[in-house]
Amino acid sequence: MRKKIVAGNWKMYNDLSETTILLAALKEQVFPEDVNVMVAPAFTNLQYASDTLREHPVTVAAQNMHQSEKGAFTGEVSAVMLKSIGVETVILGHSERRAYFNENSALLAEKVNSALSNNMTAIFCFGEELVDRKAGKHFDVVREQLEDGLFHISEKDWKHIILAYEPVWAIGTGETASPEQAQEIHQFIRKTISENYSEAIAENVSILYGGSVKPANAEEIFGQKDVDGGLIGGASLDAESFIAIVNAF
Ligand code: 13P
Repeated sequence: MRKKIVAGNWKMYNDLSETTILLAALKEQVFPEDVNVMVAPAFTNLQYASDTLREHPVTVAAQNMHQSEKGAFTGEVSAVMLKSIGVETVILGHSERRAYFNENSALLAEKVNSALSNNMTAIFCFGEELVDRKAGKHFDVVREQLEDGLFHISEKDWKHIILAYEPVWAIGTGETASPEQAQEIHQFIRKTISENYSEAIAENVSILYGGSVKPANAEEIFGQKDVDGGLIGGASLDAESFIAIVNAF
């Protein structure tokens, strides 16, 4: 059975004092038992978040990591380091990493491998740009991103994968994919997994939607058959709106 998940990607927002306040508000909440809630603070605040939420059902995720376990890679953080502070989930392939830090599918495949070999869960992000959608190429782009970055993994590894479809044109723009557009592509993603692996794997993987999800549109988006939750940016920075989105399930 696939899980319902709402994850907040805090990006490069929230210093330690803001992180402290937001986590305190989330800690007070009793979330629905069937919804897995996650937050991804900045690296500097990960240990604090991990310690603070240790006895709490909210999962702490990193926003990125390096593909190697250690080495002379100034400024980077590895899976081993994340695990050592109790962080076992990592967002990989976010469109901002792809666009601004030149992360391509070959690199992401290595990062996925590092996450899996360290028994971490990877939230694998992908999604088309506006030009692709306008040209009707979004299905091809999404299939390619999956094939090139993820489809080398073995069947047994799928239980450590969460997918996050995030159309680039909907991220931080206030423009959301309509619930029908989200359902259409999520169904396509599941079909693509089924064709490359099996129906059981396709049915069991959680596929999140990301891109301008807000309290006002979350219920309709989460209500789609193949949408299993959301990866939330801006609206996850405010406790009230993030809590409302979690409760929209
Ligand atoms: P917004 O919710 O701010 O559009 O960001 C989505 C996102 O990029 C989450 O990873």
